[in-house]
Amino acid sequence: MWKFKIFQLKLLESKNFWRLRFMIGITIFLLIMSYISYLIFQIVTDKPMIQLTHEYLDKLSIPDLEICCSESDIQITKCVFTLDNGTSTTSTTFDNCTNFIQRSRVENNIYCYLFENNYTSTYFFGNPDINLTGPWVRNIDFYFKIDNITTMTSKFLSVGDISVQLMDPNFGLLWKGKAASTADLYENQKFKLQMNAFAGIQNMSTMVYFTKQTIQTILPNDISAIFGTTPNYHSISYLNTISRYFPMHSNENVSAGNFHGHFNIAPGSFIHDIQTEKL
Ligand SMILES: *[C@@H]1O[C@H](CO)[C@@H](O)[C@H](O)[C@H]1NC(C)=O
Ligand SMILES: *[C@@H]1O[C@H](CO)[C@@H](O)[C@H](O)[C@H]1NC(C)=O
Ligand SMILES: *[C@@H]1O[C@H](CO)[C@@H](O)[C@H](O)[C@H]1NC(C)=O
Ligand SMILES: *[C@@H]1O[C@H](CO)[C@@H](O)[C@H](O)[C@H]1NC(C)=O
Ligand SMILES: *[C@@H]1O[C@H](CO)[C@@H](O)[C@H](O)[C@H]1NC(C)=O
Ligand SMILES: *[C@@H]1O[C@H](CO)[C@@H](O)[C@H](O)[C@H]1NC(C)=O
Ligand SMILES: *[C@@H]1O[C@H](CO)[C@@H](O)[C@H](O)[C@H]1NC(C)=O
Repeated sequence: MWKFKIFQLKLLESKNFWRLRFMIGITIFLLIMSYISYLIFQIVTDKPMIQLTHEYLDKLSIPDLEICCSESDIQITKCVFTLDNGTSTTSTTFDNCTNFIQRSRVENNIYCYLFENNYTSTYFFGNPDINLTGPWVRNIDFYFKIDNITTMTSKFLSVGDISVQLMDPNFGLLWKGKAASTADLYENQKFKLQMNAFAGIQNMSTMVYFTKQTIQTILPNDISAIFGTTPNYHSISYLNTISRYFPMHSNENVSAGNFHGHFNIAPGSFIHDIQTEKL
């Protein structure tokens, strides 16, 4: 009997203690959960750090080009690939740039063509400092002709000109209207507003050098990023250009109206800048 009473008391005590422990446990659990939620919130709304790395490439893809003219249609009368095999150069001419050029759009009296290299994978820009098995492309010359230069110049103060934009082949054709990240939005806007465009000008020769840059962003709500493992990077590559203009000398082919102007595309560097967001 006495033994039993003691036992009851003990049971009662330990139950109270157990309740207390339970309450403390729940409280601590809730505190930890709210702290974790706070941390997750901080991670999700955090501004990521940027890491810049460089990669030395042995070759670069031939860019896609969009070539446009206002008020008049145009012709790319020829494109000339200068090929190098390490010891000497040769050139291959494509009249009308056939196989590379197709109409991309005509809107608001703007006539556009797309130059794409997906017809052949044998052409790429080669790094001259690396012994590549060639031949590889050193530069590409484009000759353009404006069909109705009278109409065109009657609408503008400038002499006849066209505008050209370079895109990394993985950027895809034109503005797709959907942007997964701020980097996409930035690239799309740059393309739409022609920030990176250069001009082909009547009786002028344009030299264009490009470099490649890639931005790897963490998309919002990336689960891997929240838990601190490697995020599923969303990457977008684009080309930065520098252009220089030189007057052409009087030329029988210009006088004959075979073309109005010319531009030349070549890599400016084989160093690929990669910008990666870090948590
Ligand atoms: C490069 O091309 C030239 C002319 O076609 C040829 O004589 C030379 O052997 C080639 N060099 C190599 C390394 O293929
Ligand atoms: C190039 O285009 C012009 C005009 O469209 C055409 O007259 C000419 O025959 C074409 N040349 C070749 C080699 O396709
Ligand atoms: C090149 O790629 C574009 C876009 O992917 C496609 O529309 C076009 O038909 C392709 N051209 C060839 C010759 O495969
Ligand atoms: C490229 O190859 C040539 C001949 O094969 C050699 O003389 C030269 O040193 C090589 N250059 C490099 C950077 O490997
Ligand atoms: C240019 O366009 C105008 C009207 O816009 C037309 O009268 C003229 O004949 C055209 N010239 C050529 C060479 O096509
Ligand atoms: C372009 O050059 C040709 C001769 O090379 C000349 O006849 C023509 O007037 C020039 N046009 C302009 C706009 O400078
Ligand atoms: C004019 O074009 C012809 C044929 O493409 C070429 O043989 C000639 O060298 C060119 N003349 C000039 C001054 O570029």
